[in-house]
Amino acid sequence: MAIDYQERIPNNVDLAGNATLQRALEHWQPRFLDWWREMGPSDFLAAPVYLRTATSVDAKGWASWGEVKMPDYRWGIFLAEPEPDRTIGFGDVMGAPAWQQVPGEHRTTLRRLIVTQGDTEPASVEQQRLLGHTAPSLYDLRSLFQVNVEEGRHLWAMVYLLHAYFGRDGREEAEALLARHSGDADRPRILSTFNEPIEDWLSFFLFTYFTDRDGKFQLMSLAESGFDPLARTCRFMLMEEAHHMMVGVNGVARIVQRTLEVMREMKTEEPDKLRAAGVVDLPTLQRYVNFWFSSSLDLFGAEVSTNAASYFATGIKGRPDEGHYDDHVCRDGVLAVEAPDGAQDVPLRNAMNEVTRQAYIKDCDNGVQRWSKMIAQAGFSFSLALPSPRFHRTIGAWANRFADPAGEPVGESLWQARRDEWLPSAADKAFVKSLMRPVTAPGKVAGWIAPPERGVNRLPADYEYVRLA
Ligand SMILES: [Fe+2]
Ligand SMILES: [Fe+2]
Repeated sequence: MAIDYQERIPNNVDLAGNATLQRALEHWQPRFLDWWREMGPSDFLAAPVYLRTATSVDAKGWASWGEVKMPDYRWGIFLAEPEPDRTIGFGDVMGAPAWQQVPGEHRTTLRRLIVTQGDTEPASVEQQRLLGHTAPSLYDLRSLFQVNVEEGRHLWAMVYLLHAYFGRDGREEAEALLARHSGDADRPRILSTFNEPIEDWLSFFLFTYFTDRDGKFQLMSLAESGFDPLARTCRFMLMEEAHHMMVGVNGVARIVQRTLEVMREMKTEEPDKLRAAGVVDLPTLQRYVNFWFSSSLDLFGAEVSTNAASYFATGIKGRPDEGHYDDHVCRDGVLAVEAPDGAQDVPLRNAMNEVTRQAYIKDCDNGVQRWSKMIAQAGFSFSLALPSPRFHRTIGAWANRFADPAGEPVGESLWQARRDEWLPSAADKAFVKSLMRPVTAPGKVAGWIAPPERGVNRLPADYEYVRLA
């Protein structure tokens, strides 16, 4: 179905054909805009930004590009094209027709999953709201705002499902999505990673690398769902998500590149000397990796989970890339799951969180390898690595056990004594913050990060991506 851009809410779900739903969403829209003005990017509301906007679900050309002020962004509702006669691809209901309506017995579970996913989208916009004031270049400022408006659209995607399929409860949940706020003492966001402040661009790049990648894996699981509207929504969201992770992997690569340039010029690996020269030393980068990776691992939930087993059995939530597995029923298999008292064979369905986490860890490692290779090619021996999944966990078997980044158990007092070697210290944060000075001339880039290799959408790197009056 073509997208009607004349409508107040662009969509390919025939909103015009459902007056009640359209009215409900048009009622929510001004509240969303109020939230954007209050909790979205601080300032910059009047600045034209060169942005991508989803305008079609055609994989060959689904976006249009152009200058737009963020409050005028066309947040729309787009579902991937339906697969005719789609059947559920896993669990006890494997082979049954996908559900076009919410089955009564799964209503509460599906609503909770959609709300939890939906909650992360505005949360990240809130977490990042002050970063615009310290962007290292206009190119990066644009990237930030691109990520922000698309997270806003992902919120729309979930709110559409709540309004369209969950009646009054759904509408109430949609209101609550704008009422909780990241880091709010009384009404925080649901998942803890989304209450962590993102106060500097090093954290932003690691968040988009690690935490948006958790988003990718969650969306891939939900893209398999038996609830077809959810599956189709998530399939389309994944196209936007890919860009967020690219912002992260390239952002960190540019930081590493710049640090290596200075290491070579100064012929030193000494963190203090590098800091004095205004670049992020690699041990500090490693500590930020340790923090955001370990925090993101918690988002997958406990290693052994009866909820995960029932989501899988009932066709609600599959594994990412379910089609790549041989057995889609998983009634018999086991997975050896590591726990503090040793490995334990867990029925596969109960270990689905861990299956997904393992796939995520592998995916995370690709970028870390790429950054490490840059260091090796520059002739230095420092190597970046993902910490052990046992390190610094607050959920699951390893929660609140004290382990070093290699995963070796250590006593609490030793852990506390060495904490600042393993996680960003107050001094690290102060140093990184001290680098955060805005650079707003087109084509100019802050001294702690290399310029981007190329511009956006075939425009030159020195294009004025955000026009600050
Ligand atoms: Fe998102
Ligand atoms: Fe994202």
